[in-house]
Amino acid sequence: MSDAALTQPDPVVAEEHELHRSLGPVHLTMIGIGCIIGAGIFVITGTVAAQHAGPSVLLSFVIAALGCLFSGLCYAEFAALIPASGSAYTYAYATMGRFIGWFIGWNLILEYLFSASAVAVGWSGYFGDFLTRFGLHLPAAFMNAPVAGTGPADLHMTGALINMPAVILIVLMTTLLVVGIRESANFNAAMVVVKTAIVVLVIAAGLPFAMPSHLEPFIPPNQGHFGQFGISGMMMGAGLIFFSYIGFDSVSVAAQEAKNPQRDLPIGILASLGICTVLYMLMAFVLIGISDWRELDVSNPVSFAVSKIASLGWLILPINLGAIIGLASVVFVSLYGQSRIFYAMARDGFLPKAFAAVHPGFRTPHIGTIVTGAVAAILAAVFPLDVLADLVSIGTLLAFVVVCIGIMMLRVQKPDVKRPFRTPFVWFTAPAGILFCGAMAYSLSEATWIRLVIWTAIGVVIFFAYGIRHAQKSKWTVN
Ligand code: ALA
Repeated sequence: MSDAALTQPDPVVAEEHELHRSLGPVHLTMIGIGCIIGAGIFVITGTVAAQHAGPSVLLSFVIAALGCLFSGLCYAEFAALIPASGSAYTYAYATMGRFIGWFIGWNLILEYLFSASAVAVGWSGYFGDFLTRFGLHLPAAFMNAPVAGTGPADLHMTGALINMPAVILIVLMTTLLVVGIRESANFNAAMVVVKTAIVVLVIAAGLPFAMPSHLEPFIPPNQGHFGQFGISGMMMGAGLIFFSYIGFDSVSVAAQEAKNPQRDLPIGILASLGICTVLYMLMAFVLIGISDWRELDVSNPVSFAVSKIASLGWLILPINLGAIIGLASVVFVSLYGQSRIFYAMARDGFLPKAFAAVHPGFRTPHIGTIVTGAVAAILAAVFPLDVLADLVSIGTLLAFVVVCIGIMMLRVQKPDVKRPFRTPFVWFTAPAGILFCGAMAYSLSEATWIRLVIWTAIGVVIFFAYGIRHAQKSKWTVN
């Protein structure tokens, strides 16, 4: 068993390995940043500050970053060990068996598909503001979710009909994916440069105007309910802000295209996480410093905050444009990631083979992509950003917890497997990841937990009705 490695014999995937190894550490880091910077920093920061944490949203960012760092280190060990598509689903199936593999795959639908919907809804807010600045006012009934949710038993109608811009964006992105205009690394890099430049610009231009007095009281007193300010508000804020870091793990989705995945995947994961943490902290400080955090619960908080400083008015157009381009790219990559995960799950037999079918002309998994786009469009049409983003966060947090557990199990079960990247201090790091991600999941609202239970129940039914009878053994085995 010594010097053994996790290998997989599938010739198709082996061939893919030969074909696409063009990405180095810089491109992989770019892919990570491309997926990370999106609706989280551009929209959710404002909601969290106004509704839950006040200025202590800065600490929410730190807590969420630590949870991501600990689980990111565990992800890196898996990504280097099993450099195949499918991300946490593939890792879980290889190490923890059929049911957990399915459970994680099912939760990753929350991370990728629901995330595409959530970010599309965030995009819609900036798109609407962008049009408004040119005198174009789309009817509110077609710009907003018909459903809203605030408490445990809470979904109610808002009077709006459909979030049309969000639907159109998803349809466009899905069409691009089906006809095979794949995200090229250079195209992605251009997107990343645009949105990172906007974030840096807001920080650089806004910092001189940030007033420390806006940060007081740093932790506003609790209003009598869990999550409404105070320490619990800061913790709930961390669970919600966690959304803004989601995506660093998608570096592992590019495993098959990496030149040296064993070395470069951990670099890509950790570098993109580190860079975004610094940018987020500074950006959040600027937003709170130049405006009143109580007013930030709007659909375009960054351009809203900047509009409070007359001499920063020139920034509004670039911010809206940067958000429109940047958020669209997150939607694109999320839909792409979901279609790849469906592809991996269908190839393993968890889903009907149609999800792994490749179009003869376009050479893309067209059916899986269209199903992904259709469901994402329906969700974006109907639900508001907070309901979607909370589900994304809780599903992803649970996937991270399982990755942390998986890495410890593998250390015990296969201590001698050759590990190109070893999670440092694993017996501290992995439990810390479980603790931080578990605490953030715990802090999310009861309504979110209820929705997660319903989602899991649907998944369990599908597993016993279909997956358990059709799933083949994981392609990855320990030699
Ligand atoms: N981290 C991604 C975002 O904030 C999902 O949009």
